Amino acid sequence: MDFQKVLNEIYEEVNAEGIHGKVASYIPELASVDASKFGICLVTPDGDSFGVGDFEEKFSIQSISKVFSLVLSIIRSDNKIWERVGREPSGTPFNSLVQLESENGIPRNPFINSGALVVTDFLVSETELAAQAILDFIIQEIGVGGIHFNEAVAQSEIIKGDRNRALSYFMKSFDNFDNEVDKVIKEYCYQCSIEMSCKELAQAFLLFTNKGRSIYTDKQLLTLSQTKRISALMETCGCYDQAGDFAFKVGLPVKSGVGGGIAAVLPDKFSVVVWSPELNEKGNSAKGFKALELLTTKLGCSLY
Ligand code: DON
Repeated sequence: MDFQKVLNEIYEEVNAEGIHGKVASYIPELASVDASKFGICLVTPDGDSFGVGDFEEKFSIQSISKVFSLVLSIIRSDNKIWERVGREPSGTPFNSLVQLESENGIPRNPFINSGALVVTDFLVSETELAAQAILDFIIQEIGVGGIHFNEAVAQSEIIKGDRNRALSYFMKSFDNFDNEVDKVIKEYCYQCSIEMSCKELAQAFLLFTNKGRSIYTDKQLLTLSQTKRISALMETCGCYDQAGDFAFKVGLPVKSGVGGGIAAVLPDKFSVVVWSPELNEKGNSAKGFKALELLTTKLGCSLY
């Protein structure tokens, strides 16, 4: 397949459609990002990469970091993290509180904020500096280097993080949160502030394309079963209350973030990351959604 040609076509077509949304502003530091940025990068398990637009520029990965924290918690808990967080789509916005009350403080899944906070709480119990452990995992275990936290974004979210504090205290009242809330919020905000380019993220997500083995370090980091399960969760829960529409129109396991990134994988074939900061009403990249829909349509391949 001529991936480069397909990416170039998608880039032109999406730009020509004049798709717009709103840059996330509830984390003030994210509001200053250039809304016109747009990049796509696709990487194959033999290490070839194809890119177009701003695919080498770093952006805030935000909720895409929830995939890496989940991976680390699965490894460190030997799958026991599933006693504290579910595997069902929520059908609610990423920062919603409503289901927690009737479901006794057990978040529906690890990709909504409540679920990711429980995962980070577990990692803080394991290793005080959870965000650093996640960064180190990406750099040393997966083998994608040159990535950093964005201090300003982390601090901006720590200041404005009252919704996440509310979720954490609520779960604490149900005994599903062990550490001091502000300590976990700090680690969570730092993990969300990690900056990566489309290319670096696509390289890191090759893990799920390549049966849990890093092609960069040659380490088997996840079992086949764990890899399959994480991909299944991305498919059903990776973009919140738009997961159904993504399955319908894109048909790939995906994880989005309010920085405007969407990472997607087609097992054994490729990983692909799209970045455009303007978000649709569900908090997912507006251009990114369209680009992925065009990608699976033009390539004629998806999970289904
Ligand atoms: O906790 C938050 O609200 C952000 N750090 C991450 C949210 C996010 O990326 C949701 N994704 N679409």
